[in-house]
Amino acid sequence: MGSRGVLLLCLHGLLSLSHGQAINNHYFPESLKMGVANAAPQIEGAWNEGGKGETIWDRFAMTRPEMIIDRSTPEVACDSYHLWREDLHIIKGMGAQFYRLSIAWARILPNGYFSKDAVNPEGVKYYKTLLRELKKLNIEPMVTLYHWDLPQKLQDDLGGWLSPKTADIFAEYARLCFELFGDEVKWWITINEPKQVCEAGYGGGAFAPGIVQPGVGNYICAKNVLLAHAKAYRIYDKEFREKNQGKVAMVIDTPWFEPGSQSSEDVAAAERAVQFMYGLYGHPIYFGDWPQIVKDRVALRSRGEGLKHSRLPEFTPEEKKLINGTHDYLTINYYATHMANATGESPYTQRSFFDDMNIIEWINPAWPKGGPGWFSIWPTGLRKVLNWMKNTYGDHEIVITENGLSDNTGVIEDPHRIKYIRDHLSACLDAIYEDKVRLVGYMAWSFMDDWEWTGGYGSRIGMYHVDYNSPNKTRTRRASALYYRMVCNNRCLVD
Ligand code: NOJ
Repeated sequence: MGSRGVLLLCLHGLLSLSHGQAINNHYFPESLKMGVANAAPQIEGAWNEGGKGETIWDRFAMTRPEMIIDRSTPEVACDSYHLWREDLHIIKGMGAQFYRLSIAWARILPNGYFSKDAVNPEGVKYYKTLLRELKKLNIEPMVTLYHWDLPQKLQDDLGGWLSPKTADIFAEYARLCFELFGDEVKWWITINEPKQVCEAGYGGGAFAPGIVQPGVGNYICAKNVLLAHAKAYRIYDKEFREKNQGKVAMVIDTPWFEPGSQSSEDVAAAERAVQFMYGLYGHPIYFGDWPQIVKDRVALRSRGEGLKHSRLPEFTPEEKKLINGTHDYLTINYYATHMANATGESPYTQRSFFDDMNIIEWINPAWPKGGPGWFSIWPTGLRKVLNWMKNTYGDHEIVITENGLSDNTGVIEDPHRIKYIRDHLSACLDAIYEDKVRLVGYMAWSFMDDWEWTGGYGSRIGMYHVDYNSPNKTRTRRASALYYRMVCNNRCLVD
């Protein structure tokens, strides 16, 4: 559609029909910043270059190939370590105001531990130069300190996130980053998706470091990552806030859970699921303790197993005080909606986070799917989760830190991704204009294909295609990148 058509469509600010779908045609308010996102271990490659240390994902992928769908590793990925300049220009060309990136802890401190001598100058230089270039391009950085890439040494020495010491060591790394990059970075994220870090990494074991301690390791880890986040937040507050005037948050993810029926049991089951998934991290940060339903359920199951104490660790009064209130904005990584029904108690011999949660989770067959593992696309779920956050935690600024579609096709013409982005942004506009949610950011995941963890290189989630077989990892623009550019530039949902 030409620019005249765009103008006409955008001006009336009413719902219009696009491909049979109601689309909110309001202009994006100025407060809504549009951006794109990715993370170091998924695009940088150069896993042992520039003085970088080994991470748990390097080790996991290289030593347990059966855990990765295509037996691939993050050794080279998109080679953004070398091609970062091209990538920043791609991002600029998409009209993004923000780039959410992550710093690889093991590039700055190869073994994880802080000491003056341990700081890797090449790693520091890499991110300094990149941030300087972003500034020149007038793109605001949003920086994640921990996107799952724990330095392997901390896993070997301490057991990683099973040890509270890791929280202290993380806090020292965070202080170093605030010191090094605080002038350039105003939006900080401490930890990305703690649920995946803990449940997949130390509970079920599907993710690095692959520790299998269901119903135990995940909760110990949850407490330690919350302590890590809170310690970093307090350091920022005390030592950097006045000078740098930035904001700090933790990125939490959840699918939305829609009740399988309107029975009070199913409605309660859906709410319970969101409390277990989002509230496990959100409640301590906003209220200073685990959600009551999580405490009750884990205590009940622990008693059933004959344990004297709940498997869910308690916070001491000092820890509650430390964690409570450590937020400058709310965040959500949202991709899909799942259905939840109430269910009977599973045998106490069965122990896991999911048995504690006690729901039947299922996929609504009526909703569209993406690639394997990418089901139940329902944009209304995004609007609902934004409202849940506002109603549960209060009227804070919210940033959607991830949203996007994986397919497995590698196609360049991707109308399904355009539709996904358009419909989810439309749901955002409904939340802003009709529900008065203070949504201030939308970061599309991802600007280009990446190494999708256990999904390997086959899971295509970018608005740019990456040819992993070509020597220079050629990036090719997909139709969705053009669409996103049009949306960012026109600031409304053009067709
Ligand atoms: C969440 C993670 O933060 C990110 O690393 C991942 O690539 C996306 N989900 C898509 O799977």
